[in-house]
Amino acid sequence: METMEKIQEQLRANGQEQLLQWYGDLTEEQKQHLMEDIAKIDYSVIREAMKPAGAPAGVISQAPVMTRPMILKNQEEYRTKGLAALKRGEVAAVLLAGGQGSRLGFDHPKGCLNVGLTRELYLFQILLANLQDTVNLTGTYMHMYIMTSELNYQETVDFFEEHAYFGYPQSYIHFFVQDMAPSLDHEGRILLERKDHISMTPNGNGGWFSSLRRQGLLEQIKQNGIQWLNVFSVDNVLQRIGDPVFLGAVLSEQALAGAKVIAKVNPEEKVGAICLRDGRPSVVEYSELTEEMRNERDASGAYKYYYGVTLNYLFNVEATEQRAMHRMPVHRANKKIACLNAQGETMLPAEPNGYKLETFIFDILEFFDKVTAFEVEREKEFAPIKNRTGADSLDTARELLRKNRPEWGEL
Ligand code: UTP
Repeated sequence: METMEKIQEQLRANGQEQLLQWYGDLTEEQKQHLMEDIAKIDYSVIREAMKPAGAPAGVISQAPVMTRPMILKNQEEYRTKGLAALKRGEVAAVLLAGGQGSRLGFDHPKGCLNVGLTRELYLFQILLANLQDTVNLTGTYMHMYIMTSELNYQETVDFFEEHAYFGYPQSYIHFFVQDMAPSLDHEGRILLERKDHISMTPNGNGGWFSSLRRQGLLEQIKQNGIQWLNVFSVDNVLQRIGDPVFLGAVLSEQALAGAKVIAKVNPEEKVGAICLRDGRPSVVEYSELTEEMRNERDASGAYKYYYGVTLNYLFNVEATEQRAMHRMPVHRANKKIACLNAQGETMLPAEPNGYKLETFIFDILEFFDKVTAFEVEREKEFAPIKNRTGADSLDTARELLRKNRPEWGEL
């Protein structure tokens, strides 16, 4: 452990002396806790995240998209190819469930949210039912790897236990834990959650592969002969898992990654759009697009940045491993973060008060030469629950669920 003088000097040099503000109030044990937290800080990540946001990095241009008519033409060929790989057990699912769902304001893992009105119908349960659909089609169980954070790991595991894994074989479900990052106030100062503890939040969904590997699961994946990982978010009730047509399309294009995309409702819809950045596959965030770019059309009259990513990707295992040594850019996300007030008491603010530091899954796309952007029908595959009410809420998701799952009856 470094000496106290050294630590103070380092904090001063990085503008983080506030971390010792309550030091005098702490017991010896608490001082030790705080010092352990401080020793783990990577200041370079904070500097990177606090760089002023500017124009989009690189030159943005239109990406090729495999649209619905193109898919329909080759659907049977894709389905056959995809099914064969699924039947051989070459595909596993990776469920990203480490987020905090702060927009929804639900104080449990998001997957424990009950979507039912007259009965229990949890997000995790729905995803397992969607996974089971594929198993019924192929006759082969798919492994599912569930990424949690340190904050929601135990509650997630207990939830699956309590619900007997929703009837799925337990030996095919594996949990892993993602890393945490310190959160900052709007000036870039690290927040304290308690007098002896830095406010740490899950470090975004971009770390899924490195966390999987660090916890020894990549070895297991390879030993099981799994070649493809279908990675997706926890909150889309229409999430299709192990879609054979999607996989077949990626295989036919000889791509090593694929992204499911939807046509935006209009150029103003706030979703990240698939694009090329300096000629490489990428996603341009809504906030990065200028008004002019949002309305830019190609020679055929179509909007250039019109296909939003749905957070459902396919990644070839070996190719991802080869690319995993690249450092992912760190983004800052303006959020409500629990921290100490002026009196030294923990509080949760009503408005965003700082930044969580996150890496994003889509930043890995540019390490691939080619990514199959595969268009899906919004009404059939995209019903995320992000907010309490309004767009992308429980209400909109239920409506789409009723349409797509009539066999489930009353929700
Ligand atoms: P979102 O971007 O919707 O973030 O995550 P969130 O934390 O769930 O919700 P908000 O923004 O605070 O309201 C998209 C997907 O990525 C996962 C989420 O669980 C969700 O499935 N995710 C996000 C992680 O697994 N880890 C993270 O650190 C962040």
